[in-house]
Amino acid sequence: MRVYAPGRVNLIGDHTDYTGGLVLPMAIDLGTTIVGERGGDSIVLRSHAAGGTARVAISVSDPAAATPPWARYVAGVVAEVQPEQGFVGAITTTLPLGKGLSSSASLEVAVALAIGDERDPHRVAGMCQRAEQRGAGVPCGIMDQLVVAAAIDEHVLLIDCRSLALTPVKVPDDVAIYAVDCGEARHLVGSPYADRRADCALAEAIIGPLRDADLDDVGQIADERIRRRARHVVTENQRVVDFAAALARGDYGRAGALMIESHNSLRNDFEVTTTRLDELVARLCTTTGVFGARVTGAGFGGCVVVLSEASTTIDGWRLRPSAGARVSAG
Ligand code: GLA
Repeated sequence: MRVYAPGRVNLIGDHTDYTGGLVLPMAIDLGTTIVGERGGDSIVLRSHAAGGTARVAISVSDPAAATPPWARYVAGVVAEVQPEQGFVGAITTTLPLGKGLSSSASLEVAVALAIGDERDPHRVAGMCQRAEQRGAGVPCGIMDQLVVAAAIDEHVLLIDCRSLALTPVKVPDDVAIYAVDCGEARHLVGSPYADRRADCALAEAIIGPLRDADLDDVGQIADERIRRRARHVVTENQRVVDFAAALARGDYGRAGALMIESHNSLRNDFEVTTTRLDELVARLCTTTGVFGARVTGAGFGGCVVVLSEASTTIDGWRLRPSAGARVSAG
């Protein structure tokens, strides 16, 4: 069997998913392929891109102990899926690894479809989110796995991370979307990602769900750092709604301005950007034909996402909005 799962780029709405907020990611035309057959009592996957082979017993109990390091994602999925038989195959990918384009979620979803029979995108995404949490120890939200599993060709996906409702928004033909590498590797394991999530939990303990909060509520938080974290989330949720509307009506100037506001909020209030990311965004925003740019995904390095005129050429990955993961017999 052959399984393919795309990576993703997030146009806007970062660090909002784990408080039930709004996000607007897009599956991209780069992804992970697994080719192999079911059988035996272990999952044996050789990776050309990452190097090495993952060997995981179908009864794995400690996915975080798997080696090489990328095998923890595989082991996390095995622990969630609990397959009745093994799988032997090879992994190839066209995604850059560890650059913030969700190579890990792409791998998880591909493995889940290869070794298990669940095909409902929401259930697959939920299993893969828990797999990442168990395998890699990153307390991630649902955005990456859900868009990888559920995306629709030519669309971005507005995801309500509280109800998990999906609203596809068509990507117009007269814009281009690029990801540009800032040159700093991004490792969420051991990054302050978990600290940011904890800060949001503190804010919610004071003013209730951030999804329901407004700026007056945020103003009641006495702790300056926690107040800034909450302000990012509350304003970012609104920017997702405004961006989706601007894109749909062809107001790319407004959409680009919202991307820049989002980046500034992630820099000043949420503190997940780096100097290199900030400089790259500033440089790209002065490039002719660029409407806006911002860090994409968790931050702490990785990629910037750019919205530009279709005719603009930028040194980076030009990304086409693509369909979600799929299985074929061949
Ligand atoms: C990572 C996580 C997602 C999300 C983003 C930030 O990609 O896996 O769940 O929290 O960071 O928006």
